[in-house]
Amino acid sequence: MKLNKNFDNLKQSYLFVEIAKRVESYKAANPGADVIRLGIGDVTRPLTPTVIDALHKASAEMGTPEGFRGYSPDSAGYTWLREAIASCYEQSGVNVTPDEVQVNDGAKSDLGNFFDVLGSVNVLVPDPVYPAYVDTNIIFGNAISYVSGNEENGFLPMPSDISGTRPDVIYICSPNNPTGAVYDKTRLTEWVNYALDNDALILFDAAYAEFIAEPSLPKSIFEIDGARKCAVEFGTLSKMAGFTGTRCGWTVIPDELEYDGAKLGKMWYRRQSVKFNGVPYIIQRAAEAVMSAQGLREARELIGYYRENAKTITSALDRAGIKYTGGANSPYVWLKCGRPSWDYFDYLLTEKNIVGTPGAGFGSGGEGWFRVTAFGTHENTVKAAERIVS
Ligand code: MLT
Repeated sequence: MKLNKNFDNLKQSYLFVEIAKRVESYKAANPGADVIRLGIGDVTRPLTPTVIDALHKASAEMGTPEGFRGYSPDSAGYTWLREAIASCYEQSGVNVTPDEVQVNDGAKSDLGNFFDVLGSVNVLVPDPVYPAYVDTNIIFGNAISYVSGNEENGFLPMPSDISGTRPDVIYICSPNNPTGAVYDKTRLTEWVNYALDNDALILFDAAYAEFIAEPSLPKSIFEIDGARKCAVEFGTLSKMAGFTGTRCGWTVIPDELEYDGAKLGKMWYRRQSVKFNGVPYIIQRAAEAVMSAQGLREARELIGYYRENAKTITSALDRAGIKYTGGANSPYVWLKCGRPSWDYFDYLLTEKNIVGTPGAGFGSGGEGWFRVTAFGTHENTVKAAERIVS
């Protein structure tokens, strides 16, 4: 038997696993330390009342002969959920049909699994970037090239920054993880035009879209003319509605999106029906509840809570004169730590008892920078912000 040798090219452990290990070993040695975790972007607020009601109701249904559901009729999700997601797009002026929406267990799976339909490709990823993009492509053995996000371009790399191989696939994450930077319509249009001109496919990660406060900034790539012919969008309830442990997201593949003469939506649907049996009924009902008018109001309150945390952190950094990006339209604050970022990680952990994420963990372009999330509690965020600048 032969193993997938591409695994030899992965770092020994995934970034957030490595951080968790380091934090656990510090805590074991210092059991009394009041360690505040602002590392992995995991939410801390509970699910909202409308979601909990829907979960209770759906669980009760599953306990009755009439309400019990087995396999969902379609791996792409119940029609009522796909309609609810499409209607949310419509409310923000983006035309997406329910048939173009395929429900999943969160954006991360599809962002990686999508390469099942693409085969061997040249992939372009921004540096720094969410490490799952790179690791998944290492596993597939794809050729990866990088486009630099840096202080000069505001961590928003543009097609003119590409050097080297013409990419087949381009990852864009906006608001960006880890830098919190957001593409405006003009810049995103440049990427769409580049993809159209070069026959490339954009994989647009919109996991943090609902954190955008500035109305002129695009939340969906489909706000850009031409994107329906060159982009797939990945959405999730993880961050906008606290579903990190509940798991529900979706992928939008426009009907007209074709590569090599094949419709990508159809291929993805075929792939999913082989490898995925759909999200549990109970969870799909909870997701549908998020999309209701009351559910969306509650989700916005939740986002407001984390926005206040971002403000707490950025205000402290402003006072201390520390440079940063993000925070205003994103749950991530990306600060310039002015030293190797793993050294800063160790310093913050051992001297200030704060866990963040070293920029270098997101790629070499993140060296000298450090990510702090706004997903903590208010109390911990206030304490952490004071400690960081003290
Ligand atoms: C992060 O901290 O970058 C995210 O929480 C990771 C994820 O969403 O998988």
